[in-house]
Amino acid sequence: MFESGDTVTSDLGEAKNSTQDRVRLAIVGLGLIGLRHADAIDHVGDAELCAVVDASQASQEQAARRGVAWYDDLSRMIKEQSPDGIILATPTVLHVEQAQICIDAGIPVLVEKPLADDVRSAFDLVTKAESKNVAILVGHHRRHNPLIRKAHAMIQAGNIGDVRAVQSVCWFYKPDDYFEIAPWRKQPGAGPISVNLVHDIDLLRHLCGEITSVQAQAASSVRGYANEDVAAALLTFENGAIGTISVSDSIAAPWSWEHTTGENPIYPYTPQSAMQIGGSNGSLSIPDLALWTHKEKRDWWTPISATYVPRDISDPLVNQIGHFSAVIRREATPLVSGREGLLSMAVVSAIQHSAQTGNSVRMAEYLSLAQSQSIEEGKLSRLERELN
Ligand SMILES: NC(=O)c1ccc[n+]([C@@H]2O[C@H](COP(=O)([O-])OP(=O)(O)OC[C@H]3O[C@@H](n4cnc5c(N)ncnc54)[C@H](O)[C@@H]3O)[C@@H](O)[C@H]2O)c1
Repeated sequence: MFESGDTVTSDLGEAKNSTQDRVRLAIVGLGLIGLRHADAIDHVGDAELCAVVDASQASQEQAARRGVAWYDDLSRMIKEQSPDGIILATPTVLHVEQAQICIDAGIPVLVEKPLADDVRSAFDLVTKAESKNVAILVGHHRRHNPLIRKAHAMIQAGNIGDVRAVQSVCWFYKPDDYFEIAPWRKQPGAGPISVNLVHDIDLLRHLCGEITSVQAQAASSVRGYANEDVAAALLTFENGAIGTISVSDSIAAPWSWEHTTGENPIYPYTPQSAMQIGGSNGSLSIPDLALWTHKEKRDWWTPISATYVPRDISDPLVNQIGHFSAVIRREATPLVSGREGLLSMAVVSAIQHSAQTGNSVRMAEYLSLAQSQSIEEGKLSRLERELN
């Protein structure tokens, strides 16, 4: 799964510190990703799980198994447990309301991605958190993967020259029962643009710079869900680079972050790449970190070859909990702040808007309009008029 030369490390010691030195974390929503956060906390020496909020029977059993307090109400948990930090791993539609409760209580919060299901309420949340000086982190955990740290450092160091183009693919087939066991996944706003593409958009913004405009198309779910099941977008970056990105939860394929990184063992590993970044002096593919350059002359008639760049390997979810704990202790500022999460979800929202209207969207105008009105509440026509 990993290239020779890679170093398997843990950013964090696994031995637990004494109880009084640990930050006490609560998880709200102990489903698919919430359980992974609970496991990640076990591997961070200076953090511990103190409580779970989730009305389901399965969560109650999990809480008992892990020996932590169980609640079915967030406010009551805060009142009784006063945790140092809260992880929100609930369905996306609940993120803003629950994060507001955490912010009002002055408790730093790690909100799963996407930050919200509409840009306007994400703005309100981020503004409130900033004014109260309470940290929001957004769960774009891929930025905590050492391979992304390495790719970012290489691009910043000019290893591929000026970034001119990027292409990113996120294709896989989610089985029917994935939707049946959590019906919210069939509802508007929970399609692959929102649920999956937001990770890739966040990485593209991190690696290639701010996105200034988008043009997108989408196709309706052939399984009859209230969302798209395939979409593609053309992106323009602030530095002049151009990108293409496509996503589908209904294509049987090996090209996605999930399958090509080996990051999460539930996804069978495929030795492929999911993203290529093209520069004036060379190109980088991700996640294999193949750096393609001409050895002599930069010329399409001279040989071009790849150097596979070694990198450390550690679990980004564990690293993210370690980082959250450092933010809580005020030893670090959020790597993916609420505002960063807001910008990534705004691009995703613009992609949805462009796919619905057929118009291209300029991000500066979209963000300024989103700040002043609720885009999702039947105001598409006004937005459309103002954008075009
Ligand atoms: N970072 C990632 O890679 C990643 C992966 C999967 C999901 N996610 C995000 O995490 C969030 C949850 O997704 P999931 O797939 O784990 O969902 P899920 O349906 O598996 O789990 C959600 C959990 O929240 C609980 N819940 C529902 N309403 C609640 C409430 N009011 N209070 C407390 N708990 C409540 C449910 O009982 C369930 O256990 C979504 O925003 C999703 O986009 C992120």
